[in-house]
Amino acid sequence: MQAWTVHDFGNYQEKLILEERALPQMTGPDALIKVKAIGINFFDLLAIAGKYQVKAPLPFVPGAEAAGEVIEVGDNCGFKVGDGVMTNSSGAYAELMIAAQNTTYRLPESMPYEDAAAFQINYQTSYFALVYRADLKKAEYLLVHGGAGGVGTAAIQIGKAMGARVIATAGTPEKLEICRQCGAEFLINYNSADFVEAVNECTDGHGADVIFDPVGGEVFDRSTKCIAWEGRILVIGFTSGRIPEIRTNKVLLKNISVTGLWWGNYRLHNPQLMHKTQQHLYQMYGEGAVKPIIHSVHELKDLPEALKLIENRNSYGKVVVRVV
Ligand SMILES: NC(=O)c1ccc[n+]([C@@H]2O[C@H](COP(=O)([O-])OP(=O)(O)OC[C@H]3O[C@@H](n4cnc5c(N)ncnc54)[C@H](OP(=O)(O)O)[C@@H]3O)[C@@H](O)[C@H]2O)c1
Repeated sequence: MQAWTVHDFGNYQEKLILEERALPQMTGPDALIKVKAIGINFFDLLAIAGKYQVKAPLPFVPGAEAAGEVIEVGDNCGFKVGDGVMTNSSGAYAELMIAAQNTTYRLPESMPYEDAAAFQINYQTSYFALVYRADLKKAEYLLVHGGAGGVGTAAIQIGKAMGARVIATAGTPEKLEICRQCGAEFLINYNSADFVEAVNECTDGHGADVIFDPVGGEVFDRSTKCIAWEGRILVIGFTSGRIPEIRTNKVLLKNISVTGLWWGNYRLHNPQLMHKTQQHLYQMYGEGAVKPIIHSVHELKDLPEALKLIENRNSYGKVVVRVV
């Protein structure tokens, strides 16, 4: 099978190589799938560079998210040959991959493979963050930084569906338009306005009750200036490249919470909650409350172009690679 492979950590432009590899071998109750669509994630860049929180043993096939058709099943895996599934498993940048049983879900009939490849990580992450970690309530103000990104678009849609009043930040008018289409009520271009002032203004001085932050760095630092009393800041990621720090007196004085989320680790700690969440997300998808925003679809041979779009911040929503 053809697979993009990393033999040494580094920049994907040099280190990611399309090569012929042996078929992956199943060892447990998993499924072998023919990949139909791959979801490209920002953290794939970090994994290829060897900068992600978990380093894969070399050589490895990157990619964490895909949708495809089951072609072989392990004992008691719960799937059957021919099932359409989405999976969050390693080795997705390939024609075939092993779909780990505990993070693989059968697709609803109405869901195309490209939507499915864009659905699991962003929507599960945003749902876990807003529902279980921040306890977002109806009519609360939700500020979503990086609102046009993968997790950002999902957070806006889910926040809106939960009845929150959503404020989104992004760096261009085109990206803000995506945020609007996702359901954001207030749009802030942080390149032309101070987001702290803008949030305080649009909330009449109340501030944001929940702040969803996949950016970190200065964005996190300054978010403490527009958070409401008893607000919750969700630490989602660090696309800015800097892991911020906070003085605990700030946490105390405004009665705020700084709440971390590493969604992928629920696979170890509470996989049942992931399954329950997936069923609710499917229901929301069926009702039209959430719908992945797909920026572009690329061929497998052009996968580095997809990574380049993300690296250069030229994408919004999800970038997908189709495998034929
Ligand atoms: N905690 C978890 O469990 C979890 C799960 C999934 C993803 N994540 C993390 O969430 C973050 C976002 O992932 P994603 O897939 O949504 O990424 P994405 O689609 O590339 O979106 C990231 C957004 O961040 C903004 N941004 C601000 N500063 C940036 C910079 N210096 N470089 C790149 N983007 C910058 C960009 O918006 P503007 O151009 O408008 O500023 C962009 O739209 C990543 O750090 C990822 O690792 C965490």
